[in-house]
Amino acid sequence: MSEKFDLMIKNGQLMTPGGLVQTDIGVTNGKIITIGSLSNDSAQETYDATGLYILPGVIDSQVHFREPGLEHKEDIAHGTKAAIKGGVTSIFEMPNTSPLTLDEQTLAAKLERAEQTAWCDYAFFMGGNSENAQRLAELERLPGCAGVKIFMGSSTGTLLAKDDEVIADVLANGVRRVSVHAEDEDRLISRQNIAVEAEDPEAHPDWRDVESAVRATTRLVNLARKANRRVHVLHISSRDEMDILAKHKDLISVEVTLNHLTLSAPECYERLGAFAQMNPPVRDLDHQMGLWTAIQNGIVDVIGSDHAPHTIEEKERPYPSSPSGMPGVQTSLPLLLNHMHEGRLSLERIVDLTSAGPQRLFGIMGKGRIAVGYDADLVLVDLKKQRVISDEWIASKCGWTPFDGMSVMGWPVATILRGNIVVREDEILGGPMGDAVRFFETSTSN
Ligand code: DOR
Repeated sequence: MSEKFDLMIKNGQLMTPGGLVQTDIGVTNGKIITIGSLSNDSAQETYDATGLYILPGVIDSQVHFREPGLEHKEDIAHGTKAAIKGGVTSIFEMPNTSPLTLDEQTLAAKLERAEQTAWCDYAFFMGGNSENAQRLAELERLPGCAGVKIFMGSSTGTLLAKDDEVIADVLANGVRRVSVHAEDEDRLISRQNIAVEAEDPEAHPDWRDVESAVRATTRLVNLARKANRRVHVLHISSRDEMDILAKHKDLISVEVTLNHLTLSAPECYERLGAFAQMNPPVRDLDHQMGLWTAIQNGIVDVIGSDHAPHTIEEKERPYPSSPSGMPGVQTSLPLLLNHMHEGRLSLERIVDLTSAGPQRLFGIMGKGRIAVGYDADLVLVDLKKQRVISDEWIASKCGWTPFDGMSVMGWPVATILRGNIVVREDEILGGPMGDAVRFFETSTSN
């Protein structure tokens, strides 16, 4: 007799769009076929999820996996293994690789590599700059493209669109939401001496100050308004920007990271030095609280990790030669569950920020919710499991995390990618079976 389902997950607490339900899930051909009691049914494999909560797999819409060109820091295989260990089932990867992702060929090269080596589903951002601005309407529609990303301020790599004319050109070409790193390049350059003279990463939030972020975000809001184009502002780091963005939610969506929500200056720089250095910088507790308030007020749409690994040896270079960025794709969900345990947000809000939110903003097909007909991308979490995050647990090639030694309550115990159990109790199973994420038709606005 043939089995009815490929996989049955029994007795879990499901976070469905309609709320929490204790029931079973039946999966066939990678899709959720049934939600409801399956007591008389059979399956090739059954997972007893008694005592566990089942969330949609995390969609991390900002990671840097460094391939091609910077594979000594990270590659798609390591980055996606780190993803699934942390309950992430889809990633959107950034274009500041070497070469930069700026055209059909460089996107195709990433997709070919990912098809061979990715352990979770994936899409890649197309970088936008003065060279390719006129072609972006075409480029943003290529299969496997997550949309366009621009850097208004320099960070790792050479991708830059610093002037209003170039940004306006990017915004004039295409319809999809444009993702933006908003720091004002001219101000960063004019203040660089602060970093050089300080020789201490504690000066990082002073060099790349709140005003640098506010100026860029304000310019961006005005440019988006003029172009009537939706934009997504990445890794907002200050209370001041949230006050501005709150007035423009019809056009602008907002991302925050767990680095900015969990670490704070000056403590993180005293303890971690350049290992806490990222762009835009981690700021003081008042700004961190401003970000939490923005999560509570609905100003924040998405949590991305901005997974940006560098080697230990690179991070140990004297500041400001030390590169900016920290790994994070693997630690986002454990940290969020711990923040939930400490009362900062609900499980519903976690799901909203990590799966439903990215699905809505980027127009992702068939993912981001536990519903019949959707991909069976799931993460099973034990809210009562206490674990210590450690460097040894990290699957990223860089081999470290700024959260090493932190005890958290709540842990992802299994990750399921399109019906396949790819992680169980920290063990990675099967092979690299990631597929390209699909998006709604983009010739019309979604
Ligand atoms: O700190 C950062 N590092 N911020 C970015 O925007 C880029 C990233 C990287 O690629 O290293």
